[in-house]
Formats: sequence, C-alpha cells, structure tokens
Amino acid sequence: MKTIEDLDVAGKRVFVRADLNVPLSGAAITDDGRIRAVAPTIAKLVQAGAKVIVASHLGRPKGEPDPQFSLAPVAVRLGEILGRPVAFATDTVGESAKATVAALADGEVTLLENLRFNAGETAKDDAERGAFADALAELADLYVGDGFGAVHRKHASVYDLPARLPHAVGDLIATEVAVLKRLTEDVARPYVVVLGGSKVSDKVGVIDNLLGKADRIVIGGGMVFTFLKALGHEVGNSLLQEDQIPVVLEYLERAKANGVEFVLPVDAAVSGSFPDLKTKAPVEDFAVVAADAIPAGTLGLDIGPRSAELFAEKLADAATVFWNGPMGVFEHPAFAEGTKAVAQALLDSDAFTVVGGGDSAAAVRILGFDETKFGHISTGGGASLEYLEGKSLPGLTALEG
Ligand code: 3PG
Repeated sequence: MKTIEDLDVAGKRVFVRADLNVPLSGAAITDDGRIRAVAPTIAKLVQAGAKVIVASHLGRPKGEPDPQFSLAPVAVRLGEILGRPVAFATDTVGESAKATVAALADGEVTLLENLRFNAGETAKDDAERGAFADALAELADLYVGDGFGAVHRKHASVYDLPARLPHAVGDLIATEVAVLKRLTEDVARPYVVVLGGSKVSDKVGVIDNLLGKADRIVIGGGMVFTFLKALGHEVGNSLLQEDQIPVVLEYLERAKANGVEFVLPVDAAVSGSFPDLKTKAPVEDFAVVAADAIPAGTLGLDIGPRSAELFAEKLADAATVFWNGPMGVFEHPAFAEGTKAVAQALLDSDAFTVVGGGDSAAAVRILGFDETKFGHISTGGGASLEYLEGKSLPGLTALEG
C-alpha cells in the first residue's frame, strides 16, 4: 500500500475518508476520540500544503438529509483540535461542496456533510454507488483512506472512490492494521480475549475464529445470558437470543476440545427494569445475584463483583489482551462497575492490551480512564472484529490496488 509520503500532495485537492461517526447527545459530542485519532493525518496534509477535503458518515440516516445526523458539530470540534478553521459544506457533492472546495487555499481544510445523506453512499447496487463515487471524484485529485472504523463497509467513499483516484493509506489505518497484525501473527501468550456487548450474533464470527487462536475467552455483557441459558440456567427477563443457543453450545464443546478456557460470570447485577440513562436515576431494586439463579421478573444489566474479581484474575497472567464490548450498561453508574473492573485489570496487567470497538473505547474514556495507558485503543468496532475474523475488508482491499 502507498502511504501519504508516496503522494505529491502540495497544492492538490486531497479527499480524506475519515470515520467521524462520534456519539452525540443532541448536538454535543460525548466522545471525540475518533476526531482526535484522524487529526494527525489531516495536520500532516495541511503541513504539506494540500487542500484537504475531509468526509465521513455519522449514524445511519436513510440516504437523505436528516439534521440529527449532521456533521456540523464535528466540523467545529475538528477545527478546535487542529487549531485552524474548518469550512463546512452543507452537502456532499452539491453546490455547497463544490464552492467550498473551490475556495480552499493550500493548507486549508473543509469537512463535507454526512456522506450517508446521499443514497449512493451505501447502495447495494454497484452502478448507484459508482455514480456517487464519480461525483465525489470530481471534487478531488487524490484520495487518502483513513476511516478505519468503516473499512468493513463496501460503501462508495470507502470502496469505489479509491479506484477512481490515485490513493494512499492514512496513518491511522496503517497503525490500526499494524496492531491487529500483532493479534493474528506471532501472538505473545497467554492470549486472553474479553468479549462483551449485547448480541451473541454480532460476535459469532470472531468467537469461531478465536477458538483456534486464543488461550482464554472471557464473556460479559448482554450476550452472557444466552450462554447461561444454554447451560440450563434461568435468566429472568435478561437479553436472550434463543436462536443462538445451539451455536453457543457448539462453541463450549469446541473450546473444551481445543483446550481454550471459556470464562463466564458467576454473578450478575440485576433490576426489574432497564435503568433511565437520561436522568441516571438511582436503581431502587438493584441486587446482585448468582449467575445461575437470576430471579424471574429481573434482568441482568452488568456482571457482579465476584465476576469482576474472577475476570481480573483471568487477565493477570496475560501477555496479550483484546477487549471488545462493555460488560454491562456502563452508561448508568449502577451498572458500570463490571466495565470499570475490566478496564482496570487491563491497566494493571503487563500485557499488550488492545481495546477494540466504538463502544468499549468510548466506555474507557467516558469512565475516566487514561487512554494513553492502554497498548492501543482502536477506532473500529465492527472493523476490528471483522479483521480478527479473517475477513477481507473492502476499504483495505481498495487501498491495495
Ligand atoms: C462504527 O461506528 O462502527 C463505524 O463508524 C461504522 O458504522 P456503521 O456500523 O453504521 O457502518
């Protein structure tokens, strides 16, 4: 793959596909990690005298403008981080984008509006995606792919556009890929993987792949209950994916056969209802119960304190750790302890630690941990999981050619 240094960017219009899909509360950015992660690439291009056109998606709008998914607040934050003005185009390939790009002097930066406001960005139809990529290509002379969080998406700006312009890989993607290689080739052992998040079905591919690679797999988050149910335990009203029970049972069997240790929680924090994440009102009926005895009418919302201790023990001797997915509903203080305990265990270990994923990365920062103390915090959730699954990622393939 070519790098930015291989391109002659001075005086050229350089399209940077970033992943600025940050969590928002109204128009307030609650975690700006993804903006900060790509800023050095943009700063490098500015320094080299490029006219920089930054583009990204935000959320999942339905192929037409939708103000709640506007990138306008991101343009402001990007400007603050770069310490220079960022012009904002209120469309993607329309009059505003054309005029804003035309007005750029060397070393100036513009951010286009959300790429997904145009149906061509995510279209399954190659011709429709191609037409949008053609229009984007008109705006630029060169392409830099640096939206690691979106490389698993076969979208116009990720996959089709680099085929239309001389292109290079950005520094963020280069770093992310180098780190993930350390998890797939010559892994330092013991290699412990901690998986959380709500759905087993999202993690099926990665667990399947890791059963041949990891020494220990620790499971937390909402998907725990499908495992507990598969083992014959009652899970009350907890999140459950009945259709995944046979898959889970097969994993447990295969783990035994492969000598992979599977670690499940021994207790859970429960309540009769989902907590209010807006008011964060205290949870009156909070209780800690044994994982094999979750009372009817309650739902598990975090791992319990004994599990947190057990998980920390299972991480203590690791040489490599990959963690994806929170252990509970960390957005509410009553159910943040499990996620905090795992983050702390990663910090306490001497292992090479990788936090993968939008959610777990945001959790680490929102819960107040010093992100510089982790080996690497990935900007890609789905992307890092698909990389570990061994899938070919369209956004990387496109940069190879
Ligand atoms: C992410 O948040 O994982 C990336 O930005 C990709 O977003 P998507 O899942 O909506 O494609």
